[in-house]
Amino acid sequence: MSAGQTNPAGGDGRTAPIRLGINIDHVATLRNARGGAHPDPVSAAKLAVEAGADNITAHLREDRRHIRDDDIARLIAELECPLNLEMAATSEMQEIALKAKPHAACLVPEKREERTTEGGLDVVAQHNVLAPVVAELGAAGIRVSLFIAAERLQIEAASRLRSPAIEFHVGPWCDALTDGRNDDAKAEWHSIRDGARIARDLGLEVHAGHGLNYATAETIAALPEIVELNIGHFIVGDAVFGGLSESVRRMREAMSKGRAANMSGGA
Ligand code: PXP
Repeated sequence: MSAGQTNPAGGDGRTAPIRLGINIDHVATLRNARGGAHPDPVSAAKLAVEAGADNITAHLREDRRHIRDDDIARLIAELECPLNLEMAATSEMQEIALKAKPHAACLVPEKREERTTEGGLDVVAQHNVLAPVVAELGAAGIRVSLFIAAERLQIEAASRLRSPAIEFHVGPWCDALTDGRNDDAKAEWHSIRDGARIARDLGLEVHAGHGLNYATAETIAALPEIVELNIGHFIVGDAVFGGLSESVRRMREAMSKGRAANMSGGA
């Protein structure tokens, strides 16, 4: 940053700092692939907080494909930072949230057959389904956010529901950039930028997530209206590259130690 520029992520006293929520779902995906306890998503959450995450996000899906009920219980009991529970607006999930009382709940659409959350909530069409869920979670002191596309109609509908926060689904922007569809990326970016202003003017707290990597997180953090990013898949994937060398080195060391013990008659 050159002299004279302001830091959009905070520090100049004019813009709010931006929070980082780490989504640990895919640590649980890896654990569940073998059905055991390793790698433990709760330990990963603690490590993320130690490294600078402000919140932890976990999505308890209807099919429990990654995060399980006992993970949520442990996150609530063991985490010292806010937990953002991603959930569908179903009576089962509402009951779980009201019992667990996470700091925040992000309502997402959920289809059993999808690989990940494919689109935002249709808050316009789902007003009557969402209204009691937003109200009851809010009354229990849980800060609700609605995961929506950055579209004026959805933003205004979220405001009518009196949701304190929204999270923009920025996957279409990230995908357009990855695919080199520059016109689409530009149009998506304009929706995010303009949507963030509209939402803040309506008094909504604005978050963003889905598909972010280092480059897109840097770009979107420049929007002063956005106060929280929730990032999971890229970080967990990139941690493989950041950590693989050390894990291989430790395994080599463990094997060498075992072999040396045998040679000295220890086995
Ligand atoms: N925010 C919401 C509401 C999500 O559903 C997800 C994916 O679970 C994320 C953020 C994180 O997306 P990603 O794993 O692509 O970083």
